Amino acid sequence: MAVVALTALLFTGGSVSSPQADASSSKGQTVEASLHQFDLDKLFLKHFNAENTYDHIYHLSETIGPRVAGSEEEKAAAAYLKREFRKNLYVVKEQEFSIPDRLQGTLEVNGENLAIGTATGAAPTSEEGLTAALYDAGLGAPEEFSEEAEGKIAVISRGGTTFAEKASNAVNAGAVGVIIYNNVDSLVPLTPNLAGTEIAIPVVGVSREDGQNLLQEQEATMTLEALTNQTSTNVIATRKPLISKPNPEIVYITAHYDSVPGAPGANDNASGTGTMLEMARVLKFLPIDKEIRFIGFGAEEIGLVGAREYVNQLSDKEIERSVANFNMDMVGTNWERADTLFVNVTDGEPNLVWEASQKAAQKLGYENEIGLKRGGSSDHVAFHEVGIPSANYIRQERATGSLEPWYHTPFDTVENISVDRLQVAGEIVGQAVISTIKKDFKWNKGKRGEINNLQDEEIYTEIK
Ligand code: BES
Ligand code: ZN
Repeated sequence: MAVVALTALLFTGGSVSSPQADASSSKGQTVEASLHQFDLDKLFLKHFNAENTYDHIYHLSETIGPRVAGSEEEKAAAAYLKREFRKNLYVVKEQEFSIPDRLQGTLEVNGENLAIGTATGAAPTSEEGLTAALYDAGLGAPEEFSEEAEGKIAVISRGGTTFAEKASNAVNAGAVGVIIYNNVDSLVPLTPNLAGTEIAIPVVGVSREDGQNLLQEQEATMTLEALTNQTSTNVIATRKPLISKPNPEIVYITAHYDSVPGAPGANDNASGTGTMLEMARVLKFLPIDKEIRFIGFGAEEIGLVGAREYVNQLSDKEIERSVANFNMDMVGTNWERADTLFVNVTDGEPNLVWEASQKAAQKLGYENEIGLKRGGSSDHVAFHEVGIPSANYIRQERATGSLEPWYHTPFDTVENISVDRLQVAGEIVGQAVISTIKKDFKWNKGKRGEINNLQDEEIYTEIK
């Protein structure tokens, strides 16, 4: 029965001359077929629907909300991914790992919260927070601190010397806290890197604009809490090749599902996560020749922690069998100026993922909508570091490389998502992936056990 259902599936979208003759031939006989006889591209395009991606984004960003690494919300998102994969009959594994201790909190001025980056290695505040007068310490050189700095929060510009030296000078002058502001414009607040130096007072970073405004203010309240002994999780769903074989080649489709504090993370990165889930739904029933691993990574926003944990546990043999990593991070913004879906490659050199994407885009008529760009800052870097060809798909403005202005802010919400652009991303990435998983294959009719992942007849009905 299962074989009949499978046969029906394969030939619904295919163009094999006489499938029924093969299907009714004697038991145990080897049926040979070629994947190229099934138009996987067409099947994928017929079924991939960005409305479903949108529903995932809605759930992750609105129903759950910000999904900070280690938080309950991040765990709820992991549970959602697991549930969604399972709905599609995937075998799901979870990889739980420890994340570094961190500081998290707020900086309040005149009743308004500023966006901050926290410095690892600095001290937390007491539970009620630290309220103190502000002191303008210029670039934070020793001679810029007078006696007036004692008991105050030093406001220091980036530049001239290291963050650790600025903070140490503030401690020596008796300051009780430090705010370092950027000396260049950026969308996100500065995160001062203390490079392993322990600082006995709280240290945070803000944008240039917020820093300059702070210099006009009298006082501020910092509240920083130490987050310790937390864990995060990678959620891994595996689609085996249609015909089981030892040591199949592996293709990874990945996206991080965590977000930064305060940001619902609709585009960054429920968009990539939702696209991955929708691809998993469609790819579950296509006859493929390689293994696909769909992975939702946790703890990307605190330094690609989940992706590095994942690649570190791969065996050398698995790495050898790894064909490519297709990572999606920020693929659905409706920001008008984000005209290009960039394929970010860690070293900027065209690789397999770029070649496949370019061909896919050409075929789909989207060649003006994609571009190759050197770029890190997402989980594909971890794959590149172990020698697996990888890239990140991200929508940016072609002329400037800018991201939408609400990146890493509370405004990264579902209202700023474009279903049409989600569809474009899904189609390009989907077609690129398919070009790497097509190959001739053999199918042993009658051996139920050899037909992996196609355990349930229900799943075939929907493509009829
Ligand atoms: N979604 C961004 C990735 C990104 C931003 C890629 C800009 C390319 C350009 C990602 O979630 C992120 O914010 N990454 C961090 C770096 C990471 C190593 C902590 C970043 O860019 O600050
Ligand atoms: Zn991201």
